[in-house]
Amino acid sequence: MSETIKGGVHQSVAHESAHKHVSGQAEYLDDMAEPAGTLHAYLGLSTCAHGNITSIDLDAVRAADGVVDVLTEHDIPDTNDVSPTGLDDEPVFAKGMVHFYGQPIFAVIAKTREQARRAAHKADIKYDVFDAHLDVKSAEAAGGEMVTKPLKLKRGDPKPALEKAPMRIQGEMEIGGQDHFYLEGHIAMAIPGEDDEVTIFSSTQHPTEIQHMVGHVLGVPSNAVTVNVRRMGGGFGGKETQGSLFAAVAALAAKKHNRAVKIRPDRDDDMIATGKRHDFVASYDVGFDEQGKILAVDADFAARCGFSADLSGPVTDRALFHVDNCYYIPDVELRSKPLKTNTVSNTAFRGFGGPQGMIGGERIIEEIAYTLGKDPLEIRRTNFYGQEGENLTPYHQVVDDSIIERVVDELEESSDYQERRKAVLEFNKSNRILKRGISLTPVKFGISFTATWYNQAGALVHVYSDGSIQLNHGGTEMGQGLYTKVAQVVADEFQIDLSRIKVSATRTDKVPNTSATAASSGTDLNGMAAANAAQQIKQRLVDFAAEKYEVSADEVSFNNNHVVVGENRIAFDDFVKDAYMNRVQLSAAGFYKTPEIHWNRDEGKGKPFYYFAYGAAVSEVVIDTLTGEYFVERVDILHDVGRSINEAIDKGQVEGAFVQGMGWLTTEELWWSKEGQLKTHAPSTYKIPLASDRPRQFNVNLVNWSENKARTIRRSKAVGEPPFMLAISVLEALSMAVASVAEYKTCPRLDAPATPERVLMAVQRLKGA
Ligand code: MTE
Ligand code: HPA
Ligand code: MOS
Repeated sequence: MSETIKGGVHQSVAHESAHKHVSGQAEYLDDMAEPAGTLHAYLGLSTCAHGNITSIDLDAVRAADGVVDVLTEHDIPDTNDVSPTGLDDEPVFAKGMVHFYGQPIFAVIAKTREQARRAAHKADIKYDVFDAHLDVKSAEAAGGEMVTKPLKLKRGDPKPALEKAPMRIQGEMEIGGQDHFYLEGHIAMAIPGEDDEVTIFSSTQHPTEIQHMVGHVLGVPSNAVTVNVRRMGGGFGGKETQGSLFAAVAALAAKKHNRAVKIRPDRDDDMIATGKRHDFVASYDVGFDEQGKILAVDADFAARCGFSADLSGPVTDRALFHVDNCYYIPDVELRSKPLKTNTVSNTAFRGFGGPQGMIGGERIIEEIAYTLGKDPLEIRRTNFYGQEGENLTPYHQVVDDSIIERVVDELEESSDYQERRKAVLEFNKSNRILKRGISLTPVKFGISFTATWYNQAGALVHVYSDGSIQLNHGGTEMGQGLYTKVAQVVADEFQIDLSRIKVSATRTDKVPNTSATAASSGTDLNGMAAANAAQQIKQRLVDFAAEKYEVSADEVSFNNNHVVVGENRIAFDDFVKDAYMNRVQLSAAGFYKTPEIHWNRDEGKGKPFYYFAYGAAVSEVVIDTLTGEYFVERVDILHDVGRSINEAIDKGQVEGAFVQGMGWLTTEELWWSKEGQLKTHAPSTYKIPLASDRPRQFNVNLVNWSENKARTIRRSKAVGEPPFMLAISVLEALSMAVASVAEYKTCPRLDAPATPERVLMAVQRLKGA
């Protein structure tokens, strides 16, 4: 049936805003018309990583051109805190003490943004400077204070299993962080209303949390705060919690001055004052046999969390959930260490800790392969989940949907992996300077929020009496195509063309109590909620038709922009008009919650994930052993999205995620001075992938036979984050190229990001060995 309508599910329709993105007509927050008299805020940031504030002189700030007000902790009517955990560890404005270089201390309110920005730099603040612990190593040396409770996952008993294992390796890996580098940075505008009311426009993945935080800071209930988000110019996890600060400052100033207030930091300040991907140090102890079968793993995953908890608890949990990747580990113990550091509080970033855990697990595979002199792919196959009695994860969830063997088999074939690996080995024998590497790595990623209550969603569908439809749901649009996919679901439910449906901005007064659009679950959750709303309206229409035409309900159907009632075929618009005239309710609120999942963190046991998404990639690289420079020559991907709702959008997600993952593992390096100042705070010093860095050949395919075993929306699978981890194949291909200089006898132990500098150092280290 869905072939007949335009834009139903399983059709590759364009993103609803694609034409507006490229023509510049898509309205981002900074493009919105500003109300008359709008004031502008700018943050004043600390220049000390850890210390007491001994004096604050803001006279020069106040005296600067255009300045209307300066706000500090003393101007906050209720709670000086925007911590998403409720731990009260993240003040809007520093409370007498600073915990990182770049922490907001005050905000200037001025007539123009430029005036506010210039004035903010005129503050004279003095500190009593304390020792600062900036990274994992120094935090551990100082006693290892944590921002939240660590997690332990345990199955079996790895200690004796490690002792008994025929072979054993211990090692350590440093895994770098990453800045989100969304095109649109953080921004918020607050418009005061009457009484305690305020409307917030925010670039956020989590409108409900913005609502709560603004409420806490102002001391008003949630019903006084309305948050509106039409779209973000990218979020990537960086806008799951980090928008609260900006929204709170705008709201505070707007209520105090009864004027609209807008705040938008420069890129530099956005990078300095908001959290990033956690960098980790993983230390592992692995036991295995001569065939490369893993027998036991004992590992620690220590993360630089920054000064407050933010999402570090669930991020470090998700890291542990992905150490096993596609492999069964008979005896295992994994521990997280969410360490407190005097740096900006790290946060969600595509994969949410999963990539860091998975790359640690994949390093273990490399160690075994180089020790045994085998192709890492062989070691991977030897350890795949799927064999009898070998399906239990370290968190005691059964892997019952693994398709990784078939995905890897098909990719191995289609990418011509074996022949190309032989050619790479040959090439490396006959070339002294340039060396090649090739690697095939798999991905298994758990879908669902590990915070179980987050796995719920609401939607609001209005059918207007002219037959046009307005769709609203709790998910936010950040470029990933969520609005398009959910609208396709609604078009499919009513069997009408997609062009009849308008998706309106996400608003807390339309759908309340929403979850962050995160964990790749946007379509799974909101697609189901929207389908549920549509089904309620359809049921009322069916009942109306059955009564009016005196037919049974099963003689009523929706077909190609018509409603078919017995022998009658009525245009959808006409039918809706008739239903309206007969007082049928044409609006419904839908709801969905993910079934089956449960998780007991204290015991480290449960079924945190409704299902897994799978994929695999083959990357081939060439390095210059004199300079460390390299190119990614070719990448082949086979990725599983179940039955795709929109292949064009899903493919775009796979491509984008891969390239973003590649950036994380190759060129994107964050660097802090010993005073704790982030020195890589602009594209001049922080290198994200350019168009010219993309793989020279890039073959991306979706698994066309996969259907989600779990009862997700139209049997599709989440796509946003899983393909990010396909980029691990690039790091391992680089690793192979490096290993070639020492006859592949030593695991190069390349840390991430494998910048040309690191590649060169690894080459020299191995040549010296
Ligand atoms: N794609 C684009 N274009 N922009 C983004 O900000 N965020 C990613 C992913 N894909 C992102 C993106 C992240 S971190 C997540 S969790 C998902 O999209 C969120 O959207 P979804 O749940 O609708 O897939
Ligand atoms: N993923 C992304 N965001 C989250 C999660 C998660 O598992 N839990 C809480 N916020
Ligand atoms: Mo994505 S890191 O879950 O916003």
